[in-house]
Amino acid sequence: MAEPHDAVEVIVAKRDGGSLSDSQVDWVVDAYTRGVVADEQMSALAMAILLNGMDRREVARWTAAMIATGERMDFSSLSRPTADKHSTGGVGDKITLPLAPLVAACGVAVPQLSGRGLGHTGGTLDKLESIAGWRAALTNEDMLAQLEDVGAVVCAAGAGLAPADKKLYALRDVTGTVEAIPLIASSIMSKKIAEGTGALVLDVKVGSGAFMKTLDSARELAATMVALGQDAGVHTVALLTDMATPLGLTAGNALEVRESVEVLAGGGPADVVELTLALAREMLAGAGVDDVDPAEVLASGTAMDTWRRMVSAQGGDPSAPLPTARESHVVTAPTDGVLVRLDAMAVGLAAWRLGAGRARQGDAVQAGAGVEWHARPGDSVATGQPLLTLHTDEPDRFARALASLDGGWEIAPPGSSYDPSPIVLDRIS
Ligand code: URA
Repeated sequence: MAEPHDAVEVIVAKRDGGSLSDSQVDWVVDAYTRGVVADEQMSALAMAILLNGMDRREVARWTAAMIATGERMDFSSLSRPTADKHSTGGVGDKITLPLAPLVAACGVAVPQLSGRGLGHTGGTLDKLESIAGWRAALTNEDMLAQLEDVGAVVCAAGAGLAPADKKLYALRDVTGTVEAIPLIASSIMSKKIAEGTGALVLDVKVGSGAFMKTLDSARELAATMVALGQDAGVHTVALLTDMATPLGLTAGNALEVRESVEVLAGGGPADVVELTLALAREMLAGAGVDDVDPAEVLASGTAMDTWRRMVSAQGGDPSAPLPTARESHVVTAPTDGVLVRLDAMAVGLAAWRLGAGRARQGDAVQAGAGVEWHARPGDSVATGQPLLTLHTDEPDRFARALASLDGGWEIAPPGSSYDPSPIVLDRIS
């Protein structure tokens, strides 16, 4: 039991730019989780942390205190090493879907505890739930059994894992304090450390469609998380990856499952394949497996077999047709030229407004809703050619989705040059 403190004393210490002591951190995190510190007091503290930051010791202690509010999982009984990936969230980011079965097919177990989408970024569980019968909730025993048998699990984090984070994340969401780097880093890493993975690869997104809009802020977040992981004995590296442009050619739940299956079948958009392989190589290296080439495993079809077994093990039918939306609307190119910009935030907002995402926790999402784009930056387009297709079950959603795409793409005159950004911008270890 942490030494008792007073909530106002802790808030004032951080408000005045001080560093919180270990015992203040232990107390306030535990007392907030138990309901002794009130939401309005934690809101004030979260805002003081956003404004004044935390040093490395404070963030490490805050993370440990959040882990201590719940259970820790243990995968040491498995016959193979474990590696997990966490993305800070982006538009069209379906990478977990091909990545988890691919890495499992390479001999490393992937315990992937995932979340649901909130706002313009999609959630992996929402995507998988567009597969008939698939269920996200597993007990810890089911998860362990599936990891041993199939090698990959994508499921919802149980309520027992870092309950402090669940409460604090919901509070941050409604108090303008999501963007605090110490709070993002401790939120993500408390769950990953409590989950008990041996190796962790962080995909820190940078650009308009990401939390972190600049390379400098993404580097700071990545370095904070890598230090937290390493201090806790988890082999952790981070890739900083581009999220100015959305990933692949689709954003939306079933649309992204379809694209992921194309990747597992040996096709799919080049950027999705490239990022999947880059993250797979890091996960395998982190788990100590250096004699398997994930590109060969992808080409061999064994990752597709693992995908099918992974979906079936959680009640899903991998052969069932994916749902499609009832209505669609095509946006065509108004002129000949070169597409030089497709903004991730604009596409993410459009997909959300079409019904692929939710406005509040607990809202239902539409499986078939979303956006397909038929050209990527750098592609030449001709007048009248389809540029984007919008999908939804409710046609009255088109107007607001189209409004969010206004100014979200740009066609330069024919022959214009385009300088593509690499998908992986930096690596932090
Ligand atoms: N994802 C999380 O789990 N927590 C954050 O604070 C931000 C993104």
